[in-house]
Amino acid sequence: CGIVGYIGNKNAQEIIIEGLRKLEYRGYDSAGLAVLTEQGLSLDKKQGRLANLEELLAAQPLKGHVGIGHTRWATHGRPSDLNAHPHTDAKRKFAVVHNGIIENFLSIKEELVQKGYTFVSETDTEVIAHLLDDLYDGDLVATVQKAVKRMRGAYALGIMSEHEPDKLIAVRLASPLIVGVGEGESFIGSDIPALLEHTRDVYILNEGEMAVLTRDGVELFDTETGQKLERDIFHVDWDLVQAEKGGFDSFMLKEIFEQPQAIRDTIGSRIDLDEKKVVLPELKMSDAQLASYDRIYIIACGTSMHAGLVGKDVIEKLTRIPVEVAVASEFRYRDPIYTDKTLMIVISQSGETADTLAALREAKKSGVTVMAITNVVGSSVAREADEVLFTWAGPEVAVASTKAYTSQVAALYMFALYLSQIKGTQSAEQIAEIVDHLLELPGQISQILADADHVRQYAERIKDVTSLFFIGRSLDYAVSLEGSLKLKEISYIHSEAYAAGELKHGTLALIEEDVPVIALATQPDIYEKMVSNIVEVKARGAHVLGFAFAGDNDLIKTVDQVVYVPKTLPLLAPILTVIPLQLLAYYTSAARGLDVDKPRNLAKSVTVE
Ligand code: G6P
Repeated sequence: CGIVGYIGNKNAQEIIIEGLRKLEYRGYDSAGLAVLTEQGLSLDKKQGRLANLEELLAAQPLKGHVGIGHTRWATHGRPSDLNAHPHTDAKRKFAVVHNGIIENFLSIKEELVQKGYTFVSETDTEVIAHLLDDLYDGDLVATVQKAVKRMRGAYALGIMSEHEPDKLIAVRLASPLIVGVGEGESFIGSDIPALLEHTRDVYILNEGEMAVLTRDGVELFDTETGQKLERDIFHVDWDLVQAEKGGFDSFMLKEIFEQPQAIRDTIGSRIDLDEKKVVLPELKMSDAQLASYDRIYIIACGTSMHAGLVGKDVIEKLTRIPVEVAVASEFRYRDPIYTDKTLMIVISQSGETADTLAALREAKKSGVTVMAITNVVGSSVAREADEVLFTWAGPEVAVASTKAYTSQVAALYMFALYLSQIKGTQSAEQIAEIVDHLLELPGQISQILADADHVRQYAERIKDVTSLFFIGRSLDYAVSLEGSLKLKEISYIHSEAYAAGELKHGTLALIEEDVPVIALATQPDIYEKMVSNIVEVKARGAHVLGFAFAGDNDLIKTVDQVVYVPKTLPLLAPILTVIPLQLLAYYTSAARGLDVDKPRNLAKSVTVE
């Protein structure tokens, strides 16, 4: 989503709409604007493109010098006029725009409903406006602080109030937020491009910080303690194109670095921290119905199918229900065997892939229940499936999918754990242990990203080879397939992923002196077998880059180099091992001087058969 806020002496509407236009590249499904006018806090919101809102405003402008605006990428609640931001309390004293997710919004909402508050939208954001009204004691800054202490999640907020018209407030818990400083005016933006035309002097808020904006300047505070913070202004010298990519060289690299947040958003609101278990309040079917399925098909294309392969292993391990994964273009013509105990899961980032959608429709026609895992609220897949688990990765722009893949895998973990809870196939202790490790993943991904340079050096080594191989077993094999796809689609180097045990039945013939082999070895139950396979390729002269958990001192004895990922449960390894593989694909493509974000012959969303 995009946030823009303005306080100054100019026409707020004009500045905010122009800022929102600069954020259009992020994708959105509705837009809105609130301005403090002579008649009080006024707002307009409209589903669809920003142009729809502009049309409304052209007929009836909102005149004023203080305002906040938003373009929405739906999370809680489908795209609609009512669900668009800003949200207000019933008396229209507070207006709020928001990115990210308030994980505990349902419990706050219940409490407010009991106090007599009524809600008009399905969003978690509206809760904030009512909460501010409930807590307001004549001091906006203190009230916001109190409200933030109640809200769990990873989010960013822009807030204004008719009670204190000379202030705007920006809060960053996790989602990015910046504040711009001008002459007699101040700005809020979710991204730098929104402000670039007006100021290049910004504060980039850190997690847990809030900013109080007036016409005369900006003050920063620690949200938790209320302590004032001193910080040097950051002068932005990026041009607009660089700024859209958050200062990264490409959308792909930006999206790789967004993965800690995407995983956090996808699992955060689905984990009950007190009970250490998974909750899926979005499921409409009863637990009894869910528990009744005895066979699952996972259908998808491309990277989403690779996420499905990880999901298959995880669901089978945790629930003992047989799972079959198939590419949608094959499955839809296969005359599949369905019973009334068959569940179909379709996975699609875009929710618009033609073959996936066709497979979904075929299954529904046969009376099969379909659950979708998708990143786009309001997409065809989301609308037509019986059940939806959304991934909260945010818009993905680069053709090569990265954060959507890890978020899909995360959503599949949530599903597998939930299913095992209701079927009783894992003990509460086993579930709690997995949940604990899941919660560590975002931090562990950040650690891997901090060490990206290591991978870059290896990319230099392979950038001119004509062919390379990925090998692994069980979950490592599933990840190898994705690593190989990533590399070949953006670097154009021929690459193949092979189940390591199958090598000697063909692929081994292609291994000769100095051929690069990337070997994943994170799964303890087949570790020794994997090492034997590595020895087989080493014996033919391969140069092997191994992947292992930190603390594994053995693998290095067999391979040429090792990439270590932080230790987690073997079941969760895919989310970590895929990160260096994505980086490797990126750096190899970049080293070859290719267009990383738009590889030849490929499209982000394939809506034709
Ligand atoms: C295209 C994209 C891939 C994606 C696949 C499936 O091929 O380039 O990155 O994995 O479509 O897309 P979906 O939106 O259904 O996940």
